[in-house]
Amino acid sequence: MNIVSGFSKMSKTQKLDWLSGQLDSEASDLVKNLREYWHPDEKLQRRFDEFSENTLTNYDLPFGIAPNFLINGKVYSVPMVIEESSVVAAASLGAKFWLERGGFKTKVISTVKIGQVHFQWQGPKDKFETFFAQAKSEILDSVKFLTHNMDVRGGGIVDLALVDMTHEIENYYQLKLSAQTCDAMGANFINSILEELAQVLKRKIASSHHFVGTEKEVHIIMCILSNYTPECAVESYVECPIDELGSFAGGMTGREFAEKFATAVRIAEVDPHRAVTHNKGIMNGIDAVVIATGNDFRAIEACAHAYAARDGQYRSLSKVSLENDMFRFSIKVPLAVGTVGGLTSLHPIAKTSLAILKNPSAPELMQIMASVGLAQNFGAVKSLVTTGIQKGHMKLHLLNIFNQLDATPDQIEKGKEYFSDKVVSFTAVRNFLAMTTNH
Ligand code: MEV
Repeated sequence: MNIVSGFSKMSKTQKLDWLSGQLDSEASDLVKNLREYWHPDEKLQRRFDEFSENTLTNYDLPFGIAPNFLINGKVYSVPMVIEESSVVAAASLGAKFWLERGGFKTKVISTVKIGQVHFQWQGPKDKFETFFAQAKSEILDSVKFLTHNMDVRGGGIVDLALVDMTHEIENYYQLKLSAQTCDAMGANFINSILEELAQVLKRKIASSHHFVGTEKEVHIIMCILSNYTPECAVESYVECPIDELGSFAGGMTGREFAEKFATAVRIAEVDPHRAVTHNKGIMNGIDAVVIATGNDFRAIEACAHAYAARDGQYRSLSKVSLENDMFRFSIKVPLAVGTVGGLTSLHPIAKTSLAILKNPSAPELMQIMASVGLAQNFGAVKSLVTTGIQKGHMKLHLLNIFNQLDATPDQIEKGKEYFSDKVVSFTAVRNFLAMTTNH
């Protein structure tokens, strides 16, 4: 590849031409074909282009729904965007299973989000603490112009604390902001306040007669919201008497299932290798809804995994109890999401997802996401402790392999039957297609 300058200023066509000119003919043709994924509505395409930078085209992912989610007595069809086979099927089966057993019950713990002004200050710590205690309300007043609209909507700043971090890094302190951002994810709101707070702090210290010499200088390192929002969490659970669980594949009774299932979840509590995969299954469901609704899946992922390790060991996000002959399966997970602002109204499919969910508030969306994560986890662990994961997985995987190998609809139909009692592999499918093409 050659070095290029001014790439971002090129039109999309120029960008594609430049890139295809850098590649061998096969890759060059693939790049030229990226045009085929442009949206026919130019205005809409421009909007997609502007979500990010150096856009060449769009990247399609399947958008589906998992119906029959009974959550706190209300039935939802939940939109999910995910490329992995079996995830939507597992969520739907989990939803149906619990629909018949009372559905999901949820509770939002809190929706408080965190932001930090990281700074250094040199001087006696108690002097700064005294100053902060006296100046705190004035400091907060000086950012009222930024919080006014959010205050009116019932949100705003909940607290501002001075955190002494000098035991970790010399002269290092934080202003820790806690805020309620209503139905917005709130990143812009929090970051704007933090940057203003930093300036106010600097000015106040510089002009305060309490301080002399270098004490008058606040060295701002950075201002940024924290994606670790352990308080902005939600709980979802399902429960039923163990003998109402029914029976399972291979003649397994409800009690046998409950015990094996509980052991599997406990393994994910004690073993990080299993816990990561277990939680990955939960996030299969949560992320799919996060993406469908235009939320930030990287933030959600980062936070969920940090939360899973909050006591120093990475553990399962879900729990099972089998007390009093009841099977109770629950999850507690932080989910800082929004239903207004950002991509939620700009991306037409994100907007549609929210409409399908009947335009939930952010706390309602948290409850839906946690329930989908729990259903997903239930489906995955249920498969693992009964039939094994490959059986269901391979059925859908088979379809993906057929599509990769350009099989005809007729070959796919015959292939499904052929592979119903055989091990699926790429080679086996290719051999099958060669066989059927030759006949
Ligand atoms: C696959 O994407 C997710 C699972 O591995 C989750 C799990 O093992 O619990 C099936």
